[in-house]
Amino acid sequence: MIEATNSENSVTGNVPVITVDGPSGSGKGTLCQKLADRLGWALLDSGALYRLVGYVANKKGITDQAGIAEQALNLDIEFINDPATGELLSILEGQDVTRDIRTETCGDLASRVAAIPEVRAALLKRQRAFRVTPGLIADGRDMGTVVFPAAPVKIFLEATAEERAKRRYNQLKEKGFDASLAKIFDEISERDERDLKRSSSPLAIAADALVIDSSKLSIDEVFERVLKAASQFI
Ligand code: DC
Repeated sequence: MIEATNSENSVTGNVPVITVDGPSGSGKGTLCQKLADRLGWALLDSGALYRLVGYVANKKGITDQAGIAEQALNLDIEFINDPATGELLSILEGQDVTRDIRTETCGDLASRVAAIPEVRAALLKRQRAFRVTPGLIADGRDMGTVVFPAAPVKIFLEATAEERAKRRYNQLKEKGFDASLAKIFDEISERDERDLKRSSSPLAIAADALVIDSSKLSIDEVFERVLKAASQFI
């Protein structure tokens, strides 16, 4: 039985949250890490949770939706800061799988399991538990619409599919992965389509979100805009 709640916890309700939603490759990850570092706030990389569920289900050969949701509910994970690089490491069942879950294949698996309503329900409570003092930066697709609907600062970060594919390509190359720009563009477009069209918590802009198009902005320019928008709470 999956336990899910639709309301944010009243005990943590006063802890400020900045939600950052948007499609793959819009620059959310870099922005959120920078915000968390500057403010000294906790960071929720919700995409990593969906990637971990996709990874585990694939590894264990689980294909039925109830079985995948069960994995999501009982996911044995820990996120720790690598003291050498400052990078957030994903530890699954005691193993460092940070690199394994960053592949495009795993992104695709994540997008598929993310379309299962029971998986989303299973991860809801876990995501809300990241809301701790002094504050939280929440990176995802439904942070401002579903997980933290009462967040005082909501950002929706956009960029054209071409720009996002280029960024993802450069990111993968930098990390030493093999990559093809054309293939990444196709994968991003396909993933966008799935994330936008799924019936359960599709990627959507919260009514009270500040929309920033990062196509022609540097990360520092985006960062300054967000800090300005959040100035009242930081
Ligand atoms: O941000 P990312 O690329 O690591 O996310 C991987 C997939 O997980 C993405 O295709 C959609 C899904 N996802 C989601 O549905 N909801 C979230 N809050 C975060 C990610």
